[in-house]
Amino acid sequence: MHPGDANYKHPDRPQEKITGRASGNNRIKQKSTTNSQFPSSSKANYLLPFDILGGRSHSEWYFYSMIILDGRVASKAIKEKLSNDVKVLVSKGERPPHLAAILVGKDPASEFYVSSKVKSCEETGFKSTLVKYEDVSEDDLIEKIVELNKDETVDGILVQLPLPRHISSKNIISAIDPEKDVDGFHPVNAGNLMLGNESYLPATPYGIMLLLEHYKLDIKGKHAVVIGRSNIVGRPISILLSNNTHPGNATVTLTHSQTADLGKICADADIIVAAIGKPGFVKAHMVKDGAIVIDVGINRVDDDSPKGYKITGDVDYENVAPKTSYITPVPGGVGLMTIAALLKNTLKSRLLRI
Ligand code: GUN
Repeated sequence: MHPGDANYKHPDRPQEKITGRASGNNRIKQKSTTNSQFPSSSKANYLLPFDILGGRSHSEWYFYSMIILDGRVASKAIKEKLSNDVKVLVSKGERPPHLAAILVGKDPASEFYVSSKVKSCEETGFKSTLVKYEDVSEDDLIEKIVELNKDETVDGILVQLPLPRHISSKNIISAIDPEKDVDGFHPVNAGNLMLGNESYLPATPYGIMLLLEHYKLDIKGKHAVVIGRSNIVGRPISILLSNNTHPGNATVTLTHSQTADLGKICADADIIVAAIGKPGFVKAHMVKDGAIVIDVGINRVDDDSPKGYKITGDVDYENVAPKTSYITPVPGGVGLMTIAALLKNTLKSRLLRI
């Protein structure tokens, strides 16, 4: 059925129903949504070129509601599959995958991330070991990593970043055996990613690709603008989006703090990946109608809540979301996908060790 047909249902939008229709040369379909995930402020319908949806192209314009790229749903599906894979492995008499996580210091955000990773290991039948230091010297930390490298019962090692100032994260990352580097940060894995060779993909960019895949978003030929050039997110995601893969084949612009006319470049984007670490940085005027927006930011912003803070992304969600075709929420978006991707890498390492 063609998208122009009255009863057409977009495959990714099963709950939408057509509520109105304009007439004339520029036929417009107006849709409302019953998607309970929508914040009430985002229930309006917005103009979107249909060809951004699944790569289909046609000459008409429609009103669409934005869809939330729900990291809870996608990561749950991935974790269920991982859990089954682990059960099969164990039923064959093999040990489950084992992730060793190292946390240095008392940064509450890092403590939260690491405990979420450990909890996800438990949920999926992985073994995990948490190594915690209130403080440690660089040499002692490297010694611990060398010990874990040699431990044949450990498949994956991650050192939560950032590290205290007196420790060089470059030295620490380089000390991890590339074959256990399930964060994909080691120069060997980063180089292999760049060359298109087999490697461990860094968890956040990998998680974003898994999210695009879960929602069957075809980004071929689209203009993706990545904001932020970090080794953890910006650089690797720019490579993955441009790879000749599916999803992939986007035309990527990698932007950063020195980019001139950033607003203008973003306003031309079909896809925006915001990974700059500044709450609410991406404003509505920087976003084209119908764009896909991926928010990687996890920022703590003080507020009057009992907790004293809230977690917000790099996107001014309230004002940007209504303009988009798809958007990730924060929390509940990319963060959960990062953990799912990390577990996938750890299982991969386990299977390569058999
Ligand atoms: N800090 C922020 N993101 C990450 C990540 O993906 N892995 C680790 N180890 N530290 C981080």
